[in-house]
Amino acid sequence: MEIYAKNPHETQADVIITGFFEDDKALNDIQNGLDEKFDGAVSKKILEKEGFKGKYLETFVLPLDGLKILAAGLGKKEEFNTDKVREIAAKTVKQAEKLSKNKIVGFNIQNNGAMCCCKISHNVALGAIMGEYDFDKYKTKKNEEKISKVEILTEKIDKFTPAINQAKIIGEAMNFTKDLIFEPAEYATPAKISEIAENLAKENGLEIKVFGKDELKKMNFNAFLAVGQGSVQEPKFIHLKYTPENPKKKIAIIGKGITFDSGGLDIKPPASMLTMRTDMSGCACVLGVMKAIAQLKPDVEVHMLSALCENMPSGSSYKVGDVLIAKNGKTIEVDNTDAEGRLTLADALTYADELNVDEVIDVATLTGAVIVALGNTITGVMGNNEELVRALVEEGKEVGETLWEMPILDDMQDNLKSDIADMRNTGSRYAGASVAARFLSNFTNSKKWAHLDIAGTAFIDKPYKELNKGATAAMVRTLINHITK
Ligand code: BES
Ligand code: MN
Ligand code: ZN
Repeated sequence: MEIYAKNPHETQADVIITGFFEDDKALNDIQNGLDEKFDGAVSKKILEKEGFKGKYLETFVLPLDGLKILAAGLGKKEEFNTDKVREIAAKTVKQAEKLSKNKIVGFNIQNNGAMCCCKISHNVALGAIMGEYDFDKYKTKKNEEKISKVEILTEKIDKFTPAINQAKIIGEAMNFTKDLIFEPAEYATPAKISEIAENLAKENGLEIKVFGKDELKKMNFNAFLAVGQGSVQEPKFIHLKYTPENPKKKIAIIGKGITFDSGGLDIKPPASMLTMRTDMSGCACVLGVMKAIAQLKPDVEVHMLSALCENMPSGSSYKVGDVLIAKNGKTIEVDNTDAEGRLTLADALTYADELNVDEVIDVATLTGAVIVALGNTITGVMGNNEELVRALVEEGKEVGETLWEMPILDDMQDNLKSDIADMRNTGSRYAGASVAARFLSNFTNSKKWAHLDIAGTAFIDKPYKELNKGATAAMVRTLINHITK
């Protein structure tokens, strides 16, 4: 899908999506133009119509000669914001699929005067990309009604274009992340994801190192390797790096990369296993972030890490009661082979420490407990630095993602006590998201570490606001915002 700014006099769109505030009959320039051209259509046939009030997400279609106007309710003028812009754009672009013959739509979402126009066009573009996303690779019959061009109608082409292009970079990064999450585990193996990362590096001028099993053994990634040892797929560790000319700070972002989580010998029941190809959503997230970062070029050095493997039951699987010596030398008794993500992250966190970065952030589909606590629309954020945690919450809000702080207390370590090792990999099931984070804290020496638990938010079973059902690319927007600020 192409998206660009277009002068309204030159539009090729056969559907124009135009916004109206609730109970507000004032017309903007574009609406006035349409009103003149079509004999008062807007003022008479839309605004004087009984039904259409401009309530938030209300729509009304007016077919004219060769053109359809899709009136979109923007809700109360004083309550308008960028979140609403995205949701309206995502939903109306989808609605326009059936209305448009030439597959070109024009957007004229107006301003309430409180927002910068660039912000509106940025969010219209991003919303349109999000609304039009679907994963149809394996469908023999594709959706033929897809919109091919989105024109953002304005006379200030030069002013709007950078904001639209930035939205395109972010939207395409999100689509890349979503595609990878949707892929079956049989396709998106550790080796395949490494290959995808290598291509991403090549195309975007990033440095990359991929370590295989033998190297990982030498580097003492023992906790990570234990998780992968029951699978025929070889574990891989990815280290992707973006280096600017004068970095003002250095960050490591780590994504959980379990390409399939069967639970291992502590096998999951069928219903819980059903979506476990998505247990690499953290990895897909940080890969998407790197794709965007390579193009947005912030003054921040970014290291992306992911320990990729499959958690499978077999004759060679790791077992409960095994004692693993993690990369940092601490010993872990395996209490449950389904608490595998934290074992792979433990070694990745230790590796991150060796990079001497200022800040470490991990993203992981880590616990069912975070879903119990926060549901499918809120990401749990924990860490050892209040400033970083609060910053992430705020930066999420700015781009339409909700994060909620959860605690990590020192005494949660009691819950992880083992009779034979330094700790075990699970505690009691209460406060499970926090206990998992407490476990991770044993493997980082970073003064600024944050952990984002996206188990609930990475993959959703019904649409939510501008998000379609399925993969959401959770935390891609927040992390891009955090890094480029
Ligand atoms: N990958 C799961 C967590 C998960 C659950 C992600 C649901 C997405 C949706 C993780 O590896 C896991 O199995 N966690 C266990 C930990 C338990 C054994 C301590 C859990 O939360 O049940
Ligand atoms: Mn698991
Ligand atoms: Zn898992």
